[in-house]
Amino acid sequence: MLISYDSLQEVASLFQKIGIENPWREVRLLLSYVTGKNYEQIFFEKEFLLSPDQNVEFEKLVTRRANHEPLSKIIGYREFWGLNFKVTKDTLDPRPDSETLMEAALNAFPNKGLPLNCLDLGTGTGCLLLSVLSEYQNSTGLGVDISEDALNVARENALNLGLTGRSSFCLSNWIENVGGVFDLIVSNPPYIGLNEPLQENVKDFDPHLALYAGQDGLEAYQILFSQIEKLCHSQTKIFMEIGKGQRESVTLIAKENGFTLQNVYKDLARIERVLGFCLEQN
Ligand SMILES: C[S@@+](CC[C@H](N)C(=O)[O-])C[C@H]1O[C@@H](n2cnc3c(N)ncnc32)[C@H](O)[C@@H]1O
Repeated sequence: MLISYDSLQEVASLFQKIGIENPWREVRLLLSYVTGKNYEQIFFEKEFLLSPDQNVEFEKLVTRRANHEPLSKIIGYREFWGLNFKVTKDTLDPRPDSETLMEAALNAFPNKGLPLNCLDLGTGTGCLLLSVLSEYQNSTGLGVDISEDALNVARENALNLGLTGRSSFCLSNWIENVGGVFDLIVSNPPYIGLNEPLQENVKDFDPHLALYAGQDGLEAYQILFSQIEKLCHSQTKIFMEIGKGQRESVTLIAKENGFTLQNVYKDLARIERVLGFCLEQN
């Protein structure tokens, strides 16, 4: 069945109408998924010959996307730090905002040859830990999560990225099952308050475990800062992603537990997104 450029334009217009930022890109990615052709091939084609099955599949996917299901959940992967990560219903979709954590880590450790021992608390797809390890080729790291299903996705991502030799993953309620001392600790914990309004595509398609942290959204920071001291040495750098407007509260929680704020990093929207801490030096 031949799909004309005009009918694809109709899909792109529909996507645009419902607020999808790059409608044509998404149409092409869906076509790429259905046909198995790569994005570049699709990019230069003006009309598409789909089998009847592919056509039915394409229409189903368009309907799912028009109902605000994130593209990554439909096609099963999302790009983060230039790498492809498998995503499922059990993992948070890696967000561009979280790349600010990578900027913070690279700024703290400019020498990429360092043999860092890294810890990622609440690893989800493993995107933070694995992106860090892809930058620091002599480093190793541990990702922990309370969701075994998320950890299985992280392990698969490590395999796909050729990083199984330098990464490990462990089921743990925060640091309960974690031992050792780390040079770099990163975390993008859940930080949404229970009553905070969220966009449909976030609250319906990302796991609640990855989003919510008590009434005020600060519960995870309270637990983490009260626990992590024993995993730190005097030079350990800790980078935490925060929600909009949480800088003061999180800094206070950290201070009460013996940590000093060292840096604040903003995301692309100029919102304070990542806080850098170290142990208070006596
Ligand atoms: C906001 S997501 C971040 C996922 C990933 N690091 C990222 O940046 O895309 C938070 C993660 O923390 C995990 N999590 C929530 N509560 C936890 C707990 N008590 N112990 C360990 N991990 C937890 C969730 O399962 C989820 O994968």
